[in-house]
Amino acid sequence: MRKITKPAPKRPLKTLERVFSKAGLGSRTEARSWIGAGRVRVNGRLVQSPDHWVDLERDRVTLDGKPLRTAAKAYILLYKPTGYLTTYRDPEGRPTVYDLIEEAGAWLSPVGRLDLDTSGLLLLTNDTAFAERVMNPEYKVPKTYQVKTATPLSDEQIEHLRRGVALSDGPTRPATVTRLRDSAKYTYLELTLAEGRNRQVRRMIEAVDSKVLKLVRTALGPIRIGDLPIGKWRRLTAEEVRALGGRAD
Ligand code: URA
Repeated sequence: MRKITKPAPKRPLKTLERVFSKAGLGSRTEARSWIGAGRVRVNGRLVQSPDHWVDLERDRVTLDGKPLRTAAKAYILLYKPTGYLTTYRDPEGRPTVYDLIEEAGAWLSPVGRLDLDTSGLLLLTNDTAFAERVMNPEYKVPKTYQVKTATPLSDEQIEHLRRGVALSDGPTRPATVTRLRDSAKYTYLELTLAEGRNRQVRRMIEAVDSKVLKLVRTALGPIRIGDLPIGKWRRLTAEEVRALGGRAD
């Protein structure tokens, strides 16, 4: 009888530098510097190449002689002010969101990004599966913004935003748009989108012949920024993590 051999199961291989960022212990840049400095061993052997393949189920990775352990999952909500970049380091030395979360105590990555001149709710986590889920357009996690426009908007302009406008990367999906108030020169809107394209709100407002003067993200799915002071952060509650499909330990 012919023996049927099962294909070998795929091993969970990762590059050494990725192992550190996946475990939530540091950025890939930091991991590269630790590896280059000779602080990392794989199965007792010094490895100085960040591209070395590691089998997470079999290989024993140590940093300064201590075995690598996955950092506890951390989820925080930052009220990002304008003027802060959603990146780790800026070649021009401008402030970044990392300047505001130093005491969070773990290596966290932003879930999506906000423009330099946008303020509001920004999630950061070391749970990569959670971040990928929240950003995945298929899950349509709604994002809510308050917007001040440079001109008063008519009902027709607002209806156009609701139905969807044509952008260079395709039409926008129907959005929930509420007029909050008007002044002689401006309109204040609340806008909820089920997608998150680059500079989407700014481009939508430009598509109806106005401009954004102020943009604040106030909610992401069921999570609201509430009365958190600007520039401050808090941990998500277990319910908030679960509501966005994460695993609260
Ligand atoms: N839409 C924008 O235009 N900018 C942001 O930062 C977020 C959404």
